[in-house]
Amino acid sequence: MSEFDIINFENRLMANVFAKRPVVITRGKGALVWDINGKEYVDCMGSYGVALLGHSHPKIVEAVCKQAETLISCHASLYNNKRTEFLQKLVSITPRGLNKAFLSNSGAESVECAIKLARKYTGKPEIIAVMGGYHGKTMGALSATWDKKYREPFQPLVPEFKHVPPDNLEKLAEAVTDKTAAVLLEPIRGEGGVRVPPDDFLPSVRELCDEKGVLLILDEVQTSFGRTGKLFGCEHWGVTPDVMCLAKPFAGGLPIGITVAKEHVMSAFKVGEHSSTFSGSPLVCAAACAAVDVLVKEKLEGRAANLGGYFKDKLEGLQAKYKIVKEVRGLGLMLGMELRYDVHNIILKTMERGVLMLDAGRTVLRFLPPLVIEKEQIDKTISVLDEVIGEEER
Ligand SMILES: Cc1ncc(COP(=O)(O)O)c(C=O)c1O
Repeated sequence: MSEFDIINFENRLMANVFAKRPVVITRGKGALVWDINGKEYVDCMGSYGVALLGHSHPKIVEAVCKQAETLISCHASLYNNKRTEFLQKLVSITPRGLNKAFLSNSGAESVECAIKLARKYTGKPEIIAVMGGYHGKTMGALSATWDKKYREPFQPLVPEFKHVPPDNLEKLAEAVTDKTAAVLLEPIRGEGGVRVPPDDFLPSVRELCDEKGVLLILDEVQTSFGRTGKLFGCEHWGVTPDVMCLAKPFAGGLPIGITVAKEHVMSAFKVGEHSSTFSGSPLVCAAACAAVDVLVKEKLEGRAANLGGYFKDKLEGLQAKYKIVKEVRGLGLMLGMELRYDVHNIILKTMERGVLMLDAGRTVLRFLPPLVIEKEQIDKTISVLDEVIGEEER
């Protein structure tokens, strides 16, 4: 099928909910992808953070092929060896105490489960989230997501959600009532502009939650799996939540969602109170086992810290050079560069020159490359950005 036909058919046959870019990607390897015409791109978009191990990592390919020949599906009402193996690997890397998991298929589903769990465990209805937070677009997750362009068309949303200003302990403390079940936060707000909280914020939230008997749910869908230079974002501040939401890269590119909680919290769920047909399928779990093995063996969080530092320095170099660059933020290979105006054109122009990147709101460029990205690929990203921002500033 031609490039023209693919674009036309997708536009015609698929719900028009994605802001499409006019490119057809057909192949990927490591931090590179190629379009249908054979043009190469450095992928700093990383499938929105999913392709953390790089595209078509050989260990994932091997695990998926082998498992596909053995057993693809197996409902969670039956036991399965790959599911067990993955659960063991998972709890060997999660922060201490987070050792009972519900497996699903996406980030939003991992949040849905966390919301239900918090209500069931505490017997209370209220969830406190933050302005600028993002947790997905299913009705429960959407009720915690802040941006009104996502929320308003679908009201009424789930009741008893409130939003407080981000990184503001005082406002958060004021918002907690005797109806509050949980505080739900991203350790670093991704969609909200790659915003890292002040160092004392998360530890203070942990203390507040303990004092008030409220659960702390951390949405680590974007910040986990080594992305920020630690296995989990919360480790930067030595904070362990009661419930953690995971997804994106955990199955090496296959769909997965994970809600992992302290055992006494997860035990609040009784048989039938939550489920998913695909929960912990052998195929996905085989891929997830391979993904965790690669992460641990290759110490990718260390690579994210080192290369992230290198990448951030270079972005700061652009900030020093151009007035339209306002700020560079982020940890590890979760980086953002805020400009003084809309980034849409820059994203299209850098794509034309062989680099894919993301936005995070109207004025922030976001970089979520595979952690296997090479220094030269970062250099190419910087030189393309230098060229494009230079043209925009003129
Ligand atoms: C922090 C966070 N939570 C939840 C989600 C929703 O994940 P999904 O798109 O897989 O439903 C995202 C997606 O970007 C996210 O960044």
